[in-house]
Amino acid sequence: MAFLELSNVNFSAQDRVLVKNFSYQYEEGKTTALVGPSGDGKSTVLKLSAGLLVPNKGEVSFRGKNIAHMNHKENLEFRREAAVVFQDSALWANQNLFEILELPLRIHFPRMTRKEREERIDQVLKAVGYRKELGFRPSQLSMGEQKLIAFARAIICRPGLLFLDEWTESLDDSAAQRLVRLVRRHQEEGHTVIFVSHDPRLIRSLADHVLMIMGGELYAKLTRDQIESDEDIARYLEQGITA
Ligand SMILES: Nc1ncnc2c1ncn2[C@@H]1O[C@H](COP(=O)(O)OP(=O)(O)OP(=O)(O)O)[C@@H](O)[C@H]1O
Ligand SMILES: [Mg+2]
Repeated sequence: MAFLELSNVNFSAQDRVLVKNFSYQYEEGKTTALVGPSGDGKSTVLKLSAGLLVPNKGEVSFRGKNIAHMNHKENLEFRREAAVVFQDSALWANQNLFEILELPLRIHFPRMTRKEREERIDQVLKAVGYRKELGFRPSQLSMGEQKLIAFARAIICRPGLLFLDEWTESLDDSAAQRLVRLVRRHQEEGHTVIFVSHDPRLIRSLADHVLMIMGGELYAKLTRDQIESDEDIARYLEQGITA
């Protein structure tokens, strides 16, 4: 049974076809990078893969279950297993950072005590390197700090499947490296990562598979060996595609 599979997925919004006939099986325990020109559907494919958008046609299934047809309990289990760092961080504007980090723990670990939640929050904040005020609202943070909090929120329930969208954008090198180390640890624990990035170094150093998405279609599937040996791909990863 496939771990996470997109079968002939089509997605339209406002009469525009954004994703076309997309089929792919993500391998459990591997890391897949989604690459391609701006506006060509990477974030949309990521959200479809995470079950956050529902295809107009086709289906996305996790361990053989169509995500769109999961019951409440199955959906809750999937949500604990699969965590997302959104391209725009998507932190709740009207909550402070403590509340933002505490909510997933309250939902997924209802028996945790407040002290245990505080310890876990402290631990993930140390891991991502955020040291400022927890009473702040997201609007009081820089874009980079919002990314750190979004990453902390994603790992706080120790998910087996991480979706990361442009997750090192607006971070300085040392903050980005800290997140890369956290992703490596996640990989070493045998977990799965699906990420969007424009950074060739990051793609080369982390990805087992690369999916090139163009015009909402799966244009090419590449393995790590091909990323390293294929000259066209190498050039693409170095220079990026100008749409
Ligand atoms: N809800 C929506 N309604 C209408 N159009 C949308 C919606 N969401 C995304 N789009 C459009 O779908 C296309 C693909 O968007 P998407 O965000 O997936 O691209 P992307 O590859 O992630 O781009 P970037 O590299 O800039 O992040 C864009 O043209 C965008 O305007
Ligand atoms: Mg995007």
